[in-house]
Amino acid sequence: MSVRTYPDQTRFSLREGVTCLTVPTGAVLLNPPHKEKLTGLGAAQLHALKTLNRGPSTLGEMTPQDGAEVGELLDRLTDEGWLAVTVRDGGRNLYSIRPFTKPPGRPASPLPWSATLSKFAVLHRDSDGFVLEHPMSWCDVRIHDPRLLALLDGLGAGDVALPIGIKTQLAADLHWCGFLVADPFDEEREFTGRSWSAPDLWFHRRSTLGARTITWEHFGPTKWAKGSFQQPPARRPDYPGEPVPLRVPDLAALRANDPSLSTVIEDRYSCRAFDDTHPITRDQLAELLFRTARTRGVRSAGEGEELASRPYPSGGSVYELELYPIVRHVDGLAPGMYHYDSFDHVLRPVADADSAAVQRLVRSTSATLANGAEPQVVIVMAARVGRVMWTYEQVAYASILKHVGVLMQNVYLAGAAMGLGVCAQGFSDTSAFVEAAGVDELQECNVGSIIVGSPAAH
Ligand SMILES: Cc1cc2nc3c(=O)[nH]c(=O)nc-3n(C[C@H](O)[C@H](O)[C@H](O)COP(=O)(O)O)c2cc1C
Repeated sequence: MSVRTYPDQTRFSLREGVTCLTVPTGAVLLNPPHKEKLTGLGAAQLHALKTLNRGPSTLGEMTPQDGAEVGELLDRLTDEGWLAVTVRDGGRNLYSIRPFTKPPGRPASPLPWSATLSKFAVLHRDSDGFVLEHPMSWCDVRIHDPRLLALLDGLGAGDVALPIGIKTQLAADLHWCGFLVADPFDEEREFTGRSWSAPDLWFHRRSTLGARTITWEHFGPTKWAKGSFQQPPARRPDYPGEPVPLRVPDLAALRANDPSLSTVIEDRYSCRAFDDTHPITRDQLAELLFRTARTRGVRSAGEGEELASRPYPSGGSVYELELYPIVRHVDGLAPGMYHYDSFDHVLRPVADADSAAVQRLVRSTSATLANGAEPQVVIVMAARVGRVMWTYEQVAYASILKHVGVLMQNVYLAGAAMGLGVCAQGFSDTSAFVEAAGVDELQECNVGSIIVGSPAAH
């Protein structure tokens, strides 16, 4: 297919981030790290590139006379993903193809009229309007005219008042851009297509470097919010209520007497049966929390920016995780949900043991423990997401989940050293947490949980 099949009003532009340098004999397209030299260009083609450099242009604006040479150049540039294409009708923008990497060749044959949107396609809105994304695509499709929304799933929608040529062009473009499947069951037949869900694939592609994101300009620890928003402080505001003091373990003695690293790595296991006749003690819980998750210190990293140190690693030293031990059966500690104040090494009461939300959090462990037994302690891990999101772009939530993993391993290893039983959980109830802790989920949310207690004979 050639660019000349697009409606006359269609505008072409250099894709975002591309600059075009023209010299008398040719041109260079630059989008670091990509670069392409264009040589042997005719006068009309050079004129077209100069016009493109000034902004979005139609084929007619780029080539006042015979369009053949220029059409060939635009075909090449479009097929290689250097150009964004905005299809227009009646003086209105309808949709745009915005490439971020090189496209595959145009499909040889059209999809049937019955083709539907891929299960992985995601339509959302940002400050520029609707954007249709597909995690595996080489481009985004911007929908400028909402009438097109009715055409995204099943292009046969007969009652959309647009010329048939536009509908056909949209179908061909959505096919080329990888958004359509011939039949919705195609993606479900193979294990890979069936096993990935739209949110999982989107999250995976949006939190990694790859075709879409090749530079670190808006990826990773950019501190995008600095100067616009305050970084949430390292220390969470205290819950009111009388704090429960915790014993501070003797770290020097632990260093001298702990089992070896190899021993705890090799002997660690997931414990699902606990000895309720000799439950974990308050001092053991205190030691476990101190060894795994206390805040060792806070340092300033510039005005209004605090970094912290704890016994486990954390991207950017931001340490967003907060621990909420839910105590059901601990020797020397009243049942209930507490917050572990990792700065003062105390437990602060958060909610009563018999509150409905706390009960739901405890019961969510029944899938883990044998015969629906309830845990002596389940430690809910919550993230004060703003700590990470203030610093990181695109990878913030993925980093939080990784932090949960490293903290879980810390609890496993310290638990092994102390002879405690530990079992990570792959899920927890975020609504129950919000209710029990009385927090705004967008500021602090439940991202993991882990069971600890005194193990039954193993
Ligand atoms: C992130 C994560 C989530 C887990 N979720 C659960 C869970 O929900 N329920 C459970 O019984 N075990 C869970 N486990 C424990 C694994 O089942 C266990 O690590 C695995 O079977 C290997 O056994 P081992 O830990 O005894 O070596 C989880 C482990 C991890 C690391």
